[in-house]
Amino acid sequence: MDFPFTPRYIPMNRRRRIYEGKAKILYEGPEPGTLIQHFKDDATAFNNKKHAVIDGKGVLNNRISEFVFNQLNALGVPTHFIKRLNMREQLIREVEIIPLEVVVRNVSAGSLSTRLGIPEGTQLPRSIIEFYYKNDELNDPMVSEEHITAFGWASPQDIDDVMALAIRVNDFLSGLFLGVGIRLVDFKIEFGRLWEGDMMRIVLADEISPDSCRLWDQSTGDKLDKDRFRRDLGGMLEAYQEVARRLGILNDNSGPAPTGPTLVQ
Ligand code: C5P
Repeated sequence: MDFPFTPRYIPMNRRRRIYEGKAKILYEGPEPGTLIQHFKDDATAFNNKKHAVIDGKGVLNNRISEFVFNQLNALGVPTHFIKRLNMREQLIREVEIIPLEVVVRNVSAGSLSTRLGIPEGTQLPRSIIEFYYKNDELNDPMVSEEHITAFGWASPQDIDDVMALAIRVNDFLSGLFLGVGIRLVDFKIEFGRLWEGDMMRIVLADEISPDSCRLWDQSTGDKLDKDRFRRDLGGMLEAYQEVARRLGILNDNSGPAPTGPTLVQ
């Protein structure tokens, strides 16, 4: 006999897990075409060679990513984000992930500095977009548009859409962070295909948080991102809290007042 109704609330241990990544888990959502994105406290770097659990990181990333995706949605940048559900989870649209990590750089740092010998902190002549093939076994190798189209990971039209959206996201994020005294050095985003009947749209997916961005304090140059973990600088959680506080997300009474300018909304 068929169960007479579909419960809208599915207890966490009964939910079907669709995918588990290093920092997030995707569960089946309450409606067809939706998923629940759960933020874990795990921090990993160098393709999982380094791992730690940072209590509370998932909660902060959930909140910061919600804030950014809500604003992008409001600006007309299509995203997978629907709403935050609780401290660690958000409801998202199910999309077909394009297997690319799209990195946008404004200032040289990290692998660009290593690869091309450009000192970290050098302002780039213009924003640069790079593509990496999402494949842990291969260490996410950098690829060109030629590889992407030849191997069918995305069409030339998809790439045009991805690049146009990446530039819009960069413009928005650069301004957002500049307004709270933070320099957006670079970031990684992912995209998915959202099917509505026969129509397909490319939408921003995954997350935007200090795990996936390089954020430097405008005046001191302090790193407020995952490089604190990668480079053993300590104070990772405090840095993420500082980003959230400056964005006006945490109404934290316990800490000192933010030193940078506050966001005018
Ligand atoms: O390491 P690299 O300099 O190439 O990283 C560029 C940007 O992409 C950084 O902001 C980094 O946090 C982000 N990134 C990421 N996930 C990866 C690789 C890079 O979020 N797997």
